[in-house]
Amino acid sequence: MSILVTGGAGYIGSHTCVELIKSGYEVVVLDNLSNSKPEVLNRIAEVALQSVQFYQGDVLDKQVLRKIFAAHSIDAVVHFAGVKAVGESVEKPLKYYYNNVAGTMVLLDVMGEFGVKRIVFSSSATVYGDPREVPIKEDFPLGPVNPYGRSKLMVEEILRDQCAADPKFGACLLRYFNPIGAHASGQMGEDPSGIPNNLMPFVTQVAVGKRPLLHVFGNDYDTCDGTGVRDYIHVVDLALGHVEALRWQKKNAGIGIFNLGTGAGVSVLELIRAFTEATGVEVPYAFVPRRDGDVARCFADASKAGSELGWRAERGLMEMCRDAWLWQKNNPQGY
Ligand code: WQD
Repeated sequence: MSILVTGGAGYIGSHTCVELIKSGYEVVVLDNLSNSKPEVLNRIAEVALQSVQFYQGDVLDKQVLRKIFAAHSIDAVVHFAGVKAVGESVEKPLKYYYNNVAGTMVLLDVMGEFGVKRIVFSSSATVYGDPREVPIKEDFPLGPVNPYGRSKLMVEEILRDQCAADPKFGACLLRYFNPIGAHASGQMGEDPSGIPNNLMPFVTQVAVGKRPLLHVFGNDYDTCDGTGVRDYIHVVDLALGHVEALRWQKKNAGIGIFNLGTGAGVSVLELIRAFTEATGVEVPYAFVPRRDGDVARCFADASKAGSELGWRAERGLMEMCRDAWLWQKNNPQGY
């Protein structure tokens, strides 16, 4: 069984490659390395004790896709490749629609040419926008409030329509909450280029001395301590969710939509405290005004993934912090 993992050299993609290999799959990776480094592929091989077949290229490039599908018997595609910075998507919407939406359409075109009818799609909780209440269920209203979230929703709709048009087509839409942490080996982890957008890589870069101070965006939200509340999920738990989604697709054609979160909301201050408790390292911080586009609370009701995929997040916040720190300590400059 060969699985094509687009974006497989990325943070979530690389951790998913490891778990796919451990589950017995042959893995083929397509990545344009625009937000990842070739070293990741060596680490996957080291950690999983098996290498992946790597192609450097873009999902927008039909020729490289055709080369992959002609050379390998691809049973399903796990599709991570895309761009994912909310702030950038507001400044450069066309980049987001081109890479995320057009890229997926080119991929689906070539999948059709080769009769490949299963895809697991990397969606996001941002399709819910500012939820009316929490925890969030899959049938809540969808209302993304930025081009990144809208691009994810557009792809969801395309896949929903394709499933309606072709009863043999199967698509799993996995809506991620906030992936953090790293593989327990300390050999793989989150390695954002430039100034991190997300909280945990910023925390670990302050902890390792790469940055002097963490700015906490707002402490005046209507939450337990005024700071933003999110559903942080260990990246390995998230990766395992993709393995279960592929298993589910063996028995279920059509569309499957699942929240991948822990179901627990954690504030920024609670995460900082957990990090220090787990690692013994202090993280100096200062409160600054809210960040545009942030919501007060966002966390999942993940019971559907539990009952239908047989998947639940098992790693707790302390383990997420410990593993994130081990990765950063071992790799202060990233890959
Ligand atoms: C978490 C909390 C911030 C940085 C985004 C995307 C989402 C997904 C995950 C792609 C918030 C606070 C953050 C900092 C801070 N990405 N924060 N100081 O915004 O919930 O989700 O990343 O799929 O789609 O929207 O994650 O880690 O940026 O923020 O205080 O330096 O940490 O205000 O409360 P977010 P985040």
